[in-house]
Amino acid sequence: MKITNDIKYIGVNDHLIDLFEGQFDVPNGMSYNSYVILDEKIAVFDTVDARFGDAWMQNLKRELNGKEPSYLIVQHMEPDHSSNITTFKREYPNAQIVASDKAFLMMKQFFGSDYIDSRIVVKENDTLSLGKHNLTFITAPMVHWPEVIMTYDSYDKVLFSADAFGKFGALDVQDEDGWACEARRYYFGIVGKYGMQASNLLKKASAFEINTICPLHGPVLNENLSYYIDLYKTWTSYEVESEGVVISYTSVYGNTKKAVELLRDELLENGCPKVVLNDLARVDKHEAIEDAFRYGTMVLATTTYNNDIFPFMREFLYELLERGYKNRKIAIIENGSWAPSAGKKIREALANLKGLDILEADVTIRSSMTEQNREEIKTLAKALLN
Ligand code: FEO
Repeated sequence: MKITNDIKYIGVNDHLIDLFEGQFDVPNGMSYNSYVILDEKIAVFDTVDARFGDAWMQNLKRELNGKEPSYLIVQHMEPDHSSNITTFKREYPNAQIVASDKAFLMMKQFFGSDYIDSRIVVKENDTLSLGKHNLTFITAPMVHWPEVIMTYDSYDKVLFSADAFGKFGALDVQDEDGWACEARRYYFGIVGKYGMQASNLLKKASAFEINTICPLHGPVLNENLSYYIDLYKTWTSYEVESEGVVISYTSVYGNTKKAVELLRDELLENGCPKVVLNDLARVDKHEAIEDAFRYGTMVLATTTYNNDIFPFMREFLYELLERGYKNRKIAIIENGSWAPSAGKKIREALANLKGLDILEADVTIRSSMTEQNREEIKTLAKALLN
């Protein structure tokens, strides 16, 4: 696949994977992207997952058409991209590996060699000329590992963006939901903890004129780039993306669910443009996480369990804490048949997060909604929309 006259796509699609990175559901598979720049000197960008070494090497050889690459640029050492470095070096022993010093440390850890005799260690703003194509390296620590670099090619104005601007899904599957849905789940699932670092990276990248973004997963982006970059600015700065309310809940026997459904109806009746209900025991965990960041208001509704928060909600809160959830309006609905305490525990769990506006009055249900609870939920709906 041609990206520009000199830049070709040599990545692979994975339809065999069950869980990406051991945890993310990827119903449309996954792509491991790799690229080659054909110039006086030839540079290959990253390898692919271990299981696709043969297919990748075939793609590479097809594009090389008998030529020898000078460089393998390793932007990220996570094994979905680095697993075939040794295969590459066996095939092309004279090629040099270009990477950050931290990446070489990891090569030693993963493969037992840091390629001391055939390597180029690059730092921020170092450059490498291939002929027409001049590459500038941009360090991108914690987007999403510490060794990451990105690369800008000034000739074709291409940013090789490593994991940033990545997306779940193989490239040979048409994504009915558009780019943002699975790119958002990918971002908040994988990179979300490092919003500040990702935001810094965007600032650095804004110094370059970019026509094309080549990420390590998902489609190459070459049209309407401001759409993708603006979404990334929103996500990395923890800003609200969409108007509406997300209700994240658990319900053991359906009584908490009834309260949640009443709240949804009241919100819609009072003009809320969108209400999303996420049953944390049943919805994909990472869908629930992305929605928590997508909307500006979230209601947490759950049961007291073992004098604590119901397990699926407890785990969900932990995921939000881990990602530095912030700057949102929150309300709590708790249910408990004899000693409701989930509300108090949720407040304790959220206490150290910044910029949360947690409404003071929790709705406390004892087993099932009373008339008073119904009135409280109607009042809550109005308070959430103020
Ligand atoms: Fe696609 Fe962080 O590896």
